[in-house]
Amino acid sequence: MNKLAQILPGLSPDSIARAGQALRAGACIGLPTETVYGLACDALNPAAVAGVFAAKDRPNFDPLIVHVRDAGQARVLAVFCEPARVLAERFWPGPLTLVLPRAVGDAGQPIVPDLVTAGLPAVGLRVPDHPVAQQLLSATGLALAAPSANRFGSVSPTTAQHVASELGDRIPLILDGGPCARGVESTVVGFTDTGSMRVLRLGGVPVEALREALPGHAVELTPPTSRPSAPGPADAAQALPSPGMTDRHYAPRTPLRYLPHDPGAGPAAVTPPAGRWGLLWFGKPEHAPDPSGFAAERNLSPDGEMTRAAANLFAHMRELDGLGLDGIVAIGVPDTGLGRAINDRLRRAATAPG
Ligand code: TXA
Ligand code: MG
Repeated sequence: MNKLAQILPGLSPDSIARAGQALRAGACIGLPTETVYGLACDALNPAAVAGVFAAKDRPNFDPLIVHVRDAGQARVLAVFCEPARVLAERFWPGPLTLVLPRAVGDAGQPIVPDLVTAGLPAVGLRVPDHPVAQQLLSATGLALAAPSANRFGSVSPTTAQHVASELGDRIPLILDGGPCARGVESTVVGFTDTGSMRVLRLGGVPVEALREALPGHAVELTPPTSRPSAPGPADAAQALPSPGMTDRHYAPRTPLRYLPHDPGAGPAAVTPPAGRWGLLWFGKPEHAPDPSGFAAERNLSPDGEMTRAAANLFAHMRELDGLGLDGIVAIGVPDTGLGRAINDRLRRAATAPG
């Protein structure tokens, strides 16, 4: 059996030094961010980037987000349009990924390698808002390519222990930064030729906040459907604006049924199918659905706080997934603000495998 990853306390200078050494040697490591844990490597080392795809079993038509310490470092790697500059100023550090044309280096080639962007002309960049990620980025000066640290298609990790259970036999070390405060991945935004903004993935920065930051600016929401549910031929996937957005994503092994939030209907109407089912819901106890027919129940946020629901989402899905249930009924949350990103994850978790 392979050696298991060491989990190190993320904030110790010794851990940061060891993680830096591993990254410079071309390894990939588990790294906490405010959204989810990432599987990080030196973004400018193509062999290391290939290691990330291999560790995740991830198809290499799916581009990786590059994490940088600040907007200055981002400007070395990509060309900013004016709305991107405004969004970076407003939301970095934070859960916003900007997809921007790659900058070209002295040799006339894009600085960020093709493997990182899956051959796309643009690169996704973000500045994470987590002290461990910040310290590692500052200490090493590296740009870190980091997808979520789960095997391809499965639930994103929000603790160091989740990373260990997903990839512990494949990576040397994991920096432990505690549970992720934000809990859903970054919002991914691109720009059309005419400069309008396109939301490629719903996430930690709500669409409402983007609109507020750029008043009067067009914001396109790419339809969340009409995507292949399983990796198809690379060229078909390349045609998608954000190739990683396959429908089957964030999925527990246990079948999950998603019931969209219905403001008019009382949740008490939910009855479990035959067998041992779990219930995933959200809200104050007085609105509780009748849990009596369910073998297990998890409430994303008993006080009705959406930020808490997002922080709990993947951990609760994982807990229910570990109980050997026949299925999970997940009731959606109100579809505004962060709630949209939560519902997006639940809907994708429920999509039958393609
Ligand atoms: O919060 C996050 O974004 C986390 C943490 C670790 O930073 N990362 C993350 O990475 O969720 P990943 O690889 O699981 O998802 C990245 C998403 C994918 O859907 C991918 O298609 C899209 O971002 N993406 C990345 N680079 C892109 C590019 N150049 N063009 C279009 N979409 C891109
Ligand atoms: Mg992911």
